[in-house]
Amino acid sequence: MTLRSAFDGRLQLGCAVAGTLPGSLSATEERLLSEQFNVLTPENCMKSGLIHPEPERYDFEAPDALLAFAERQGLSVVGHCLAWHNQAPAWLFEPGMTRALALTQLARHIQAVAGRYRGRIQGWDVVNEAIADDGDGLRDTPALRAIGEDYIERAFELAREADPHAELYYNDYNIEQPAKRERTLRMLERLQASGVRLDGVGIQGHWIIDRVPFDDIAAAIQQYRALGLKVMITELDIDVVDRPDCSADIATQRAYSPTEDRYREGCPAPVMTHVLQQQAEQYARLFEIFTRQPGDVARVTFWGLHDGGSWLNSWPGKRTNHPLLFDRQCLPKPAYEAVLDVARRTQVKS
Ligand code: XIL
Repeated sequence: MTLRSAFDGRLQLGCAVAGTLPGSLSATEERLLSEQFNVLTPENCMKSGLIHPEPERYDFEAPDALLAFAERQGLSVVGHCLAWHNQAPAWLFEPGMTRALALTQLARHIQAVAGRYRGRIQGWDVVNEAIADDGDGLRDTPALRAIGEDYIERAFELAREADPHAELYYNDYNIEQPAKRERTLRMLERLQASGVRLDGVGIQGHWIIDRVPFDDIAAAIQQYRALGLKVMITELDIDVVDRPDCSADIATQRAYSPTEDRYREGCPAPVMTHVLQQQAEQYARLFEIFTRQPGDVARVTFWGLHDGGSWLNSWPGKRTNHPLLFDRQCLPKPAYEAVLDVARRTQVKS
C-alpha cells in the first residue's frame, strides 16, 4: 500500500518538488514520488521572480522539465503561484507606477506563464498570501499599492482567460485561525460576488508539533466548504524544532542556537523516537479530520518529499528539521505508517 493507493478515490496526495532537471532527483526520490503521490507542486520554479525575472526574460527551463517529468510519470501538476509578494521581481510593481501599467504587467505575466502551460495544469494557486496577518484587511504588498484591492479579481480573471480549464485557487497560511479565517472568508465572498471564477481554497498547513490547531482546522474546512469551494491542504509539514508562531512568512528570519537546534544528528535515540511518535499521532489526527466526511478535503500536498529536502531546515533559520513522512534516507517514518493506518481504518468505516 502507498499513500496514493490508500486514499484512492478519496483524497489526492501531492508533494512539492524543488526541481526535476537532470541530476536533481535520485532514482529513489523519483520512485518515491511516482509511487506515493499523484500530483506535484513546483516548490519555487514557477514563482514570478524565478520564471519571469526581467520584463522581457523568462526562465522556463525548470518548469518545462517539471511538467515533462510529471507527464512521463503520469502525475498532475498544480501551478504555484501567479501573484505573490515574495520571490517576485522588483520590476513587476514598482513604487510610483500607474495603475494602468501595473495592470498591463500583471496581465503580461499571467498570460505568458499560465498561457504557456494551458491545458497541462490541474489548477493554479492564483493569489498567494493576500490577507494581512493582523488588522483588518489585505496585506500591504506592491500589487495592492500599484493596483488597489481589485488586483485579486483581475488576477483570477486573467488566469481564467489564460487557461480556461485549470482550477483556480486562493492559497494562504494561518487561514484556519479564527481572525484570519474571518478576513479570508469575507475576501472570498467578495470575489464570488464579483462573479470571478474561484474553485478552491488552499490552507497551507505549515504547523508545529504540539501546537497543531486541530479544532480550528476542522471548523475552517467546514466554513470554506460552505462557500461551495474545494478545500485543499497545500503545503503540509509538522515542524519538530519549534518556532515562535505558525506564521509561514518567509520574510521572517531568526538564528537558532546549537541548543535550540536540538535534533541535530547525534540526538539521543529515545528523545528522537518520542518526538517522531508524537508527530505520527498528530499527523494521524490531521488525516482523521481530512477524511471525516467524503469530499471535505480534495487534496493534501506535503511541502517536500523527505526531511533532508524540507525548507524547514533553512527557514526561519538554519537548523536540522524532521517535518515530513520520509526521513533523510527516504525511509518511511512512524508518521507515514500512522497516516496509512488512518486510511485503512476510515476505509473500513465507509
Ligand atoms: C518556500 C520554499 O519552500 C523555499 O525553498 C523558498 O526559499 C521560500 O519559499 N509559503 C509558500 C511557499 O506559499 O511558496 C513557500 O515556499 C513557503 C511558504
